Amino acid sequence: MATNPIPQFPAGFLWGVSTSAHQIEGAVDEREPSVWDAFTAEPGRVKDGSTAAVACDHYHRYPEDVALLSGLGVTAYRFSVSWPRVRAEGGLDFYDRLVDELCAAGIRPVPTLFHWDLPLDLDWLDRDTASRFAEYASTVAERLGDRVKKWITLNEPAEHTLFGHALGAHAPGKQLMFDALPVAHHQLLAHGLAVRALRAAGATDIGIANSHGPTWPASQEPADLEAAGFYDVLLNRLFADPLLLGEYPEGIGELMPGDVDSDLKIIAEPLDWYGINYYAPTRVGAPEGADIEFGGLTIPAELPFSVRQIEGVPVTDFGWPVVPEGLTELLTTFRDRYGDRLPPVVITENGCSYEGIDDQDRIAYLDGHIRALHRAVEAGVDVRGYFVWSLLDNFEWAEGYARRFGLVHVDFETLERTPKASYGWLRDVLRAQG
Ligand code: NOJ
Repeated sequence: MATNPIPQFPAGFLWGVSTSAHQIEGAVDEREPSVWDAFTAEPGRVKDGSTAAVACDHYHRYPEDVALLSGLGVTAYRFSVSWPRVRAEGGLDFYDRLVDELCAAGIRPVPTLFHWDLPLDLDWLDRDTASRFAEYASTVAERLGDRVKKWITLNEPAEHTLFGHALGAHAPGKQLMFDALPVAHHQLLAHGLAVRALRAAGATDIGIANSHGPTWPASQEPADLEAAGFYDVLLNRLFADPLLLGEYPEGIGELMPGDVDSDLKIIAEPLDWYGINYYAPTRVGAPEGADIEFGGLTIPAELPFSVRQIEGVPVTDFGWPVVPEGLTELLTTFRDRYGDRLPPVVITENGCSYEGIDDQDRIAYLDGHIRALHRAVEAGVDVRGYFVWSLLDNFEWAEGYARRFGLVHVDFETLERTPKASYGWLRDVLRAQG
């Protein structure tokens, strides 16, 4: 473990942690159902057979969790607002109380309006869902906008499209393969309409949280380069290009529904900042003619790429490679690719799953990634914040409770919270940053 101090980040840099509603809140009876409730009720969908009915019971224990945030010394907290809860009678009251509690603690609330828990009667294959999302965004902004200044529209629309609608590993469990592309378009449209709705309600600091990572070809052979280029389009450019350049990567626009050119004008509504969730790079090669198990997913043989192990690097308990330099590379690549179309960047998620309370591996991961982020800042990338995923161990989607990403351990029998070694380490890092 490196003992030299982490270098100083620019003044005003936001330090935070992230969570999402479905993964921590529980209190399912106090909201409408979402696609995730229906999905987890189907046998075999979640590996440990668990549901998020109670999760961390954050809905009832939020004062204790805000106290944990205070103890950590973060300046911001990214959480998500549950659309199915906002639709229920009095549902916004919870977020009102949470935001008050955060403000009283001097912590900036950073809500994400959609983190995968779509109301059960809605479907991203319907264009109308985009307009419904914008209405919902207005409702939330009117209620919380006096105290919330920084907003996130969507979380990882790429994963929600790919895992939820193309591969069927996440809710709503559809296996549409390339017919899932309208789901991406409608989420992007929802984002653009929501940016307009939030601005109409007075918001001035709006971003999105997209997952991105470097794509490393398995070799310099043409077939591997082509496969890696394809993967880069799926993970990075399918979302970043329309948002930042107002166009889809070549060949994609024709596959999208509706009047794509006029939709792109809405989608490319200028952003105040761009959020990136970074976990690891991906080694991609030509298809291998067989299904591949990777990081908890099955990559079907018919896709035009395969995913390989990155040799010579540690992996987390989830099997994800640990490559801090990938974060520097990603940010400098984005800066070079998008130039002045890229607004200031915030790392809206970064973290790892490891067992145990003395989680030295998590400390090493975070230490490496924060230093890698600083190298990107030194290289001239305008980075304004860094959020660790996650405050608490929580419901890791199709993995259930088996993957522990928290700085704070949660005993899912008693719901007792126990700060891990990484919590104390990060607190000391933040103190040193002032
Ligand atoms: C990204 C997602 O936004 C979050 O919900 C998930 O728990 C983490 N990655 C870890 O997989």
